[in-house]
Amino acid sequence: MSNIIFYFSGTGNSYSIAKGIQKEIGDTILAPLLKAKDYKVAEYNIVGFVFPVYYIHVPEIALRAIKGISLRKGQQVFAIANYGGTLGYALQDIREALSDKDVILQEYKIRMPGNYILEYGAFPRVYQEYILKKTEIQIKKIAGFILKNKKTGYIEPNLIAKIYHSRSNKQRSLFGEVGSNFYAKEQCVHCYQCVKLCPTKNITISEGNLIWGSKCVQCMACIQWCPQNAVSHPLMKKNRGYYTNPNVVVNQSGELELKENKS
Ligand SMILES: Cc1cc2nc3c(=O)[nH]c(=O)nc-3n(C[C@H](O)[C@H](O)[C@H](O)COP(=O)(O)O)c2cc1C
Ligand code: SF4
Ligand code: SF4
Repeated sequence: MSNIIFYFSGTGNSYSIAKGIQKEIGDTILAPLLKAKDYKVAEYNIVGFVFPVYYIHVPEIALRAIKGISLRKGQQVFAIANYGGTLGYALQDIREALSDKDVILQEYKIRMPGNYILEYGAFPRVYQEYILKKTEIQIKKIAGFILKNKKTGYIEPNLIAKIYHSRSNKQRSLFGEVGSNFYAKEQCVHCYQCVKLCPTKNITISEGNLIWGSKCVQCMACIQWCPQNAVSHPLMKKNRGYYTNPNVVVNQSGELELKENKS
């Protein structure tokens, strides 16, 4: 394969975008960003990063992984930030992280349904469908630009992001603490999908009970994918709707996959 796309994805939005781009540009493998160390990334023609926005920045864990990758001078790299409403500094973060690597960076953004269930419930179904339909068109367009190695401009934070910046820094500093307050309700059937999904191995099993530690990066995978809706948190309000990308499922190994009719 000539190209590689790395994704970091809690609820499947980034994964589904990465799959869409893979299909359009062809000759491309997909890999979880946190496994990037297993690949000789500098040998690929095109390298892509697809990730969500957390409090107007790239998730710290994703940014650290990107910074740790060896890239080739002049290599074509694209970054697609996806977000529920305010993109903020995400692409600026990537630009800064890659500034000493001398690569050709293309910056893209895609609006997706929001997934931050500790703050809000799932967007109404029709609105989700509207956003996801638009995404399909954007993916085709972006893939065309990637294949042409089109020069893109800088995507900068808007005024809302600037106003919100200090609050967002505070919120991000609390991720570990907030995450340690998740708990499993009695409808838990001990399938341990949440344990397999967690990107930081933050969920452990003690005498059959699930315990959330302080390494949470707030990806929302455990709470959103639980087949029993058994994961809860003091910040969860009653009747908040769950969201996972409708084209994505979790397999037996706890990895994301496209639904059969979508691959
Ligand atoms: C902790 C957290 C913080 C978030 N902060 C933002 C934000 O600042 N701006 C935004 O537009 N969306 C925000 N979102 C929404 C996600 O970026 C969005 O739903 C994304 O598509 C999720 O991608 P995924 O399914 O690949 O995890 C946040 C989500 C989480 C879990
Ligand atoms: S995914 Fe849900 S049902 Fe399965 S172990 Fe975790 S909390 Fe329990
Ligand atoms: S504990 Fe849950 S929300 Fe936190 S990082 Fe793990 S899967 Fe994501």
